[in-house]
Amino acid sequence: MKLRFTKLAIFLAALIPLERLVWKALHDGLGANPIEVITHSTGDWTLILVLTTLSITPLRRITRQYWLIGVRRMIGLFVFFYATLHFLTYIWLDKFFNVHEMVKDIAKRPFITVGFSAFVLLIPLALTSTAGSIRRLGGKNWQRLHRLIYATGILAVVHYTWLVKADLHKPIEYGVVLSLLFLYRVGVWVSEKTSEKASQKSKPNALPAPARNPL
Ligand code: HEM
Repeated sequence: MKLRFTKLAIFLAALIPLERLVWKALHDGLGANPIEVITHSTGDWTLILVLTTLSITPLRRITRQYWLIGVRRMIGLFVFFYATLHFLTYIWLDKFFNVHEMVKDIAKRPFITVGFSAFVLLIPLALTSTAGSIRRLGGKNWQRLHRLIYATGILAVVHYTWLVKADLHKPIEYGVVLSLLFLYRVGVWVSEKTSEKASQKSKPNALPAPARNPL
């Protein structure tokens, strides 16, 4: 029951950036370049949500709030939702599906291809986010596939760093958070491997320990 309310609260909170954009659009609040404002806002929120999904597991382990795992899938789907809005803003509002214009722009601004790659990697994750897919793929394969979210994070930070012309503060901040989250996972993995080896040494005839989820 508590989890259902928390999920509802997170669902409503995750819609706030979109509601703000819609509200501003309806009240002439998007300024002189509305497409730029929408592109930046949806891009920012996609990246913030990528980092949020990645921080669920460390947060769950550190705080021992195990229910947090129950909201990860929903936040992951919001990553895809905002990335799709960001992508649609570009191909629809900015370029009006004009392929020739897009090709010209992509040749001039290669960071767009990097953003597009980050977006493409999200598609298999969104498609396999159901409980049925976890069963079909098997837990381990599913987890391996879902580590692609790190590649999305890296590509997104590269995309952002490449596109800014002067102030690198924000992309660097995102990059630092992403690196810390990645280092945490590597640390957990190394410590689990070390303790697995140590326990095998102390019981030489024991069967190898079953593979554990490194994340
Ligand atoms: C996971 C996928 C993506 C993420 C996380 C992402 C993230 C971002 C971020 C953080 C910004 C800058 C926002 C700001 O300045 O505050 C941005 C800008 C932008 N992104 Fe993306 N992006 C993604 C995919 C894409 C895709 C697929 C396209 C187009 C095909 C795209 C095109 C752009 C453009 C045109 C800008 C604005 C550049 C400018 O200011 O001139 N992005 N993106």
